[in-house]
Formats: sequence, structure tokens, C-alpha cells
Amino acid sequence: MGLVNGVSVNGHLVNGGLLAGHRAVITGGGSGIGRATARRMAAEGARVTVLDIDGEAASAVAEEIGGHAYRVDVTDYDGLESALHRAAEAMGGLSLLFNNAGTGSIGHIHETTLEEWSRLIAINLTGVFHGFRAGVPLIQAAGGGAIVSTSSISGIRPAAGEAAYSAAKAGVAAMTANAALEYAPDIRVNAVAPGMIRTALTEPLLGGFPHLTERYERSTPLGRLGEPEDIADVVVFLCSEQARFITGQNIVIDGGMTLHGSGVDGVLDEVHKLMGRA
Ligand SMILES: NC(=O)c1ccc[n+]([C@@H]2O[C@H](COP(=O)([O-])OP(=O)(O)OC[C@H]3O[C@@H](n4cnc5c(N)ncnc54)[C@H](O)[C@@H]3O)[C@@H](O)[C@H]2O)c1
Repeated sequence: MGLVNGVSVNGHLVNGGLLAGHRAVITGGGSGIGRATARRMAAEGARVTVLDIDGEAASAVAEEIGGHAYRVDVTDYDGLESALHRAAEAMGGLSLLFNNAGTGSIGHIHETTLEEWSRLIAINLTGVFHGFRAGVPLIQAAGGGAIVSTSSISGIRPAAGEAAYSAAKAGVAAMTANAALEYAPDIRVNAVAPGMIRTALTEPLLGGFPHLTERYERSTPLGRLGEPEDIADVVVFLCSEQARFITGQNIVIDGGMTLHGSGVDGVLDEVHKLMGRA
């Protein structure tokens, strides 16, 4: 269901929503976390423009929520800047930007080609820089707003085999703190650091190695994989007045997965077993 008389999107009330009056652009909005966020933002009253390198996917989401769409590669600064300007013109300004487009790959550092390293840095880190560079003046011109970028728990607690991705995502967290200082008080700047979320990005991993799902469920205190909406709801919160005193943060949303790590992790259960307690 689309926007009906400006009243509801997918059954959610638009008038008086958390983002009523806001005008948002989402990169990588054609799938996964970006698509879920586009839906949530629209449901909370924002006008939304969806950007994605997959133009058809972006258009499908825009059509569903009554928004605009442009095919954009975030590594192409001129293309992104032009799309942001067109989006701002079409929506009557820009107050929210979600720098979310990203991709990953796995391999040893010494076996990673310079091309692959450069590709991951270009999309995951330079793409976010491009978003700030083109988006900040537009948000300032609109009188302020909020920027959220998608980092990852990989940028905080990297695993073997994801050096380029981790480095890029750690860079996103650093740039977030930097930008928060540069653009306060008019623009609040935060990042979300998702854990293992079920999207097209993780499908090859979860589909290819079915035992991993069970492993993630077991090692995640909240007992399940994440869904795109788990991230989308936090992005909406960070963009809203509810988060008015939060800036420069990189919020981990992983069901507690990365809490493990102390030397006595799991020892309490072992001790209880030895004592015959459940
Ligand atoms: N899924 C997870 O477990 C997870 C965990 C941590 C971080 N993330 C991050 O979340 C973000 C969204 O990923 P997702 O899981 O929703 O994956 P996804 O593949 O479902 O969505 C990513 C979207 O980005 C678009 N995209 C890719 N390269 C682009 C480019 N150069 N320019 C414009 N658009 C481009 C894709 O077409 C796709 O629509 C990414 O930054 C990813 O690194 C995901």
C-alpha cells in the first residue's frame, strides 16, 4: 500500500509521526536496511528520496512509499551531489540524510588485490564522505537536521578476513564523531553499527553455511539474528526529536553479540553445572 491521501503508509499513521515535516534522502535505499528505513521514515511522516546503484530497486521502494528515486553510485561524487540537489528541490529541502549504501567481501589481507581494497573503501567510506560533502550544505540551508551513517560491529570488533571492510567502517565511526563536532549544534550526526542482520548482503553467508544461523542465535544474548527493521527503528529514533541530545555516537545494534569476550565468559554456567544447579 502506498501513501493514501497523506494519511497512512502500510497502515502506519503519518500525520503527527516522529518525522513529520522532515525531508530525507537514503543511500542504498533499494534493499535491506535502507529499504526498511525508507518505509519506517515514510510511516513516521517524512518525505523520502531513495538513492541506489540499482535504479529499479530504488524506484520500487519510492513507489511503495510515495517518494522519489534516483539511480546513484555513491562513489561518483558528481552523480550523488546532483541527485541530492534534485531530491532537495523535489521535496522542498533536505533535513535528514542516511548514508547507508555499502558492500563487503572476505579474504586474507595479503591476498586482497589493490582493486578490491580500493572498491570497498570507495563504497563504504568515500561514499559516506561524499554524502557529507554534498549533503551538509543542503541541510544547513534548510536550517539544520540530522545525518546518520551505517557503520558496523566489524569496525569495532573486526573478524579475520574483513580488513578493508572493517577499516572502512571504523573510518565511518571516526568521521561521524568528527562531523558531529564540526556541525553542532545545527546538525546532529550519528552512526548505527549493525550486528548480523538478515539482508541480501548476508544471504550468501547465511544461505551458504546454514549452521551459521544456529551459531549466531546461540552466541547472541537476545537469541536471534537481526532484521532490517531492528536497525531502521534506531535510525528513525536518531533522526527524531527524541534523540535531541545525542550526537557523535556509533550505536551498536547486535542483540548483545559483541558483549562476549571477558576471560570468564561462560564460566558461571560451568560452575553451576559442576554444582548440579540448572
Ligand atoms: N546486513 C548486515 O548484517 C550488516 C551488518 C553491518 C553493517 N551493514 C551495513 O548496512 C548497510 C546496508 O546493507 P544491507 O545489509 O541492507 O545490504 P543490502 O545489500 O540489502 O543493501 C545495500 C544496498 O546498497 C546498494 N549499493 C551498493 N553499492 C552501492 C553504491 N556504490 N552506490 C549506491 N548504492 C549502492 C545496493 O544496491 C543495495 O540496494 C551497508 O553499509 C552494510 O555494510 C550490514
